[in-house]
Amino acid sequence: MAVTPMMVQVGRRESFNAAHRLHDPGLSEDENRRLFGKCVNLHGHNYLLEVTVVGGIDPTSGYVVDLKRLSDIMCRCIIQDVDHRNLNTDVPWLGGVIPTAENLALIFWDRLLAELPAGQLRTVRVWETDKNWAEVGDQA
Ligand code: NI
Repeated sequence: MAVTPMMVQVGRRESFNAAHRLHDPGLSEDENRRLFGKCVNLHGHNYLLEVTVVGGIDPTSGYVVDLKRLSDIMCRCIIQDVDHRNLNTDVPWLGGVIPTAENLALIFWDRLLAELPAGQLRTVRVWETDKNWAEVGDQA
């Protein structure tokens, strides 16, 4: 069967539980409370991390990528460092970052980009709650 050179997106979802507070150490407690409301208090989320990659289908395997391999990279580069941690204090590579979903998505993107073949990473989406998410993507 001839395989068309179509690009196909595939993805993987992993989950982690972590605590955080939204707090800028450069601001007063009053200013932080005005900016972040009750999110200034330490609390936890059941996060989902969704990653999509894009490529042509390998005619030998029928895969774009082996999603087990993508899962392994997500776990090694991100999940194992953040699961059951305080994101404000426990993760060296999040040091100095206000751990919003937006900032997490951006930093997770950089960590995954360094591990994947060029051009493969398409989107990194962080679900903080079942209603709120942030996504970083390569629109190219
Ligand atoms: Ni929160």
